[in-house]
Amino acid sequence: QKQTALAAIEAATTLDALEEQRVGVLGKKGWVSLALKTLGQMSPDERKEAAPAIQAVRGEVAAALDAKKAELETAALEAQLTSETIDLTLPAPDQPKGSIHPVSQVMDELAEIFADLGFSVATGPEIEDDWHNFTALNMDESHPARAMHDTFYFPDKAQDGASMLLRTHTSPVQIRSLKSEGAPIRLIAPGRVYRSDSDATHTPMFHQVEGLVVDEDIHLGHLKWTLETFFKAFFEREDIVLRLRPSYFPFTEPSVEVDVGYSNEGAGKEGGRRVVGGHGDEDGHDWMELGGSGMVNRRVLEFAGIDADKYQGFAFGLGIDRIAMLKYGMNDLRAFFDGDPRWLAHYGFSP
Ligand code: PHE
Repeated sequence: QKQTALAAIEAATTLDALEEQRVGVLGKKGWVSLALKTLGQMSPDERKEAAPAIQAVRGEVAAALDAKKAELETAALEAQLTSETIDLTLPAPDQPKGSIHPVSQVMDELAEIFADLGFSVATGPEIEDDWHNFTALNMDESHPARAMHDTFYFPDKAQDGASMLLRTHTSPVQIRSLKSEGAPIRLIAPGRVYRSDSDATHTPMFHQVEGLVVDEDIHLGHLKWTLETFFKAFFEREDIVLRLRPSYFPFTEPSVEVDVGYSNEGAGKEGGRRVVGGHGDEDGHDWMELGGSGMVNRRVLEFAGIDADKYQGFAFGLGIDRIAMLKYGMNDLRAFFDGDPRWLAHYGFSP
């Protein structure tokens, strides 16, 4: 019986045939298994004599099965490898590939430039409560500026009764960072913000970068120098100038709107980045509005638990998507969020 089994195993040409042999010998009703069962009915002496022989047969058959199985598997793999050769001289199929997104790219560049100026990067939650998003920024419940923010509110209040919302700007990170780290502080906070607004230049989700410096003896000159230094580095142009226009934000006093200007005579010259979308004036400059800023309102410092007699600061909030559009000459904000690799490729973003 053993010889027949070993011969059949040796003759097996497929894994299925081999499995059939294994079941016939070692399976529940296989003859070796049945022989092992008879040991139970033997006397201890008979068993001592019979058992080693049966175990030896079992071992031999099992080893033959294993060896044959390995042999068949190797053969199968080899057959597969020869049949599935790839012709490496053929052109590869053209598959669209993504790239770093312009917004991510700009965020990285921002963080790098500001890191050189000693700014760290802070973050805060996109789901905010109305205290951090509004009240602590000097906008109490009745403040008209609240209505201007087109806020997405959540229908349910938090357990502590707070109204929850999608943050409408990155400014609440000012409050959170001041509360957790105190002064002096020097940070930027890039991230997503939300307003219910949508057209070619507005999307319900967009990106801002907040900047905050609080220290002793900080004044508007520091703000202007910082932004100017940043924009020159970012647009890689020395002819960038800044225009600060009087404005109003509840959380800064005084408040200024930031326009970036560049002489249009130099436009198109080698070495300079192309900046588009601006409108020119008589003195040879194109101007673009990029965000808001100002000296931190002392009420905000007080809300955040900072000694407003000792410390002053400046803050700014810039639209990252707008900055990216300018730098790369893009004209429709909505395309930022379509995820079309052709759009990325068109503007020079490749894998
Ligand atoms: N948070 C303001 C906005 O979203 C921008 C801003 C930030 C203005 C910081 C002043 C200081 O419009």
